[in-house]
Amino acid sequence: MSALEIKELSVSVEGKVVLHGFSLLIPSGEVHALMGPNGAGKSSLANAIAGHPSYKIERGDILFNGSSIVDLLPDERARLGIFLSFQYPAELPGVSVANFIRAAVEARSKEHVSATEFYKKLYECMDFLHIDRSFTSRSMNVGFSGGEKKRFEILQMLMLRPTCALLDEIDSGLDVDALKIVAEGFNSMRSAGMSALLITHYRRLLHHIVPDAVHVIGGGHVVRSGGLELVDSLERGGYQSVGT
Ligand SMILES: Nc1ncnc2c1ncn2[C@@H]1O[C@H](COP(=O)(O)OP(=O)(O)O)[C@@H](O)[C@H]1O
Ligand SMILES: [Mg+2]
Repeated sequence: MSALEIKELSVSVEGKVVLHGFSLLIPSGEVHALMGPNGAGKSSLANAIAGHPSYKIERGDILFNGSSIVDLLPDERARLGIFLSFQYPAELPGVSVANFIRAAVEARSKEHVSATEFYKKLYECMDFLHIDRSFTSRSMNVGFSGGEKKRFEILQMLMLRPTCALLDEIDSGLDVDALKIVAEGFNSMRSAGMSALLITHYRRLLHHIVPDAVHVIGGGHVVRSGGLELVDSLERGGYQSVGT
């Protein structure tokens, strides 16, 4: 069964059309990379899939495991296992890392999770991502470096175990060591039951997370699809060389 299918999608934000006839199929178990110039509509696509209310679906459909999700609220989509890691994670003063992640885990599972069980898993994931435990009681993202924010996006992903992960420029602002840790975190989640869309500008992420396919967006839709050779030609000739 195809996990995520985007069909002829047109999306507008603030009255401006950002996606136009965008189609993409990510079968269950596959990781697809999406590349494209700044302002091409990559984050808008991720937001539209997650259900952000500012991104209005004008035409087309988004199917998850065969059913349309466009009429579902963002939290209903999250409960289906759709997870979006933000390009610019929000700072939440007064909301601790532990409380924020616990609320998300409980919303996802619809069940109370015992504190013992929760902290055991949280510490396990934090250790895996080389995050100091003192972060547990800090306000979410407040005063975090760019790289730390990205690491916490992956921490949420490890805790939530999504079936569809949308990662928006998870590699921006990461040094080489942090990039490896984030990639290892992601790779530990790869499975036949999870599909993922990796939005990135850089080949270096795709050395660590090898995608099953690569797509380039231009003019609001996919202009080229291929494998890693497409990334190499982009790095040589820029986006114009592939027709954006
Ligand atoms: N919330 C928003 N309000 C107004 N304009 C937006 C908003 N989100 C995106 N846009 C506009 O839509 C276009 C696509 O943006 P975006 O999806 O962020 O591109 P990308 O992620 O590919 O760089 C840009 O022109 C951007 O300014
Ligand atoms: Mg973006």
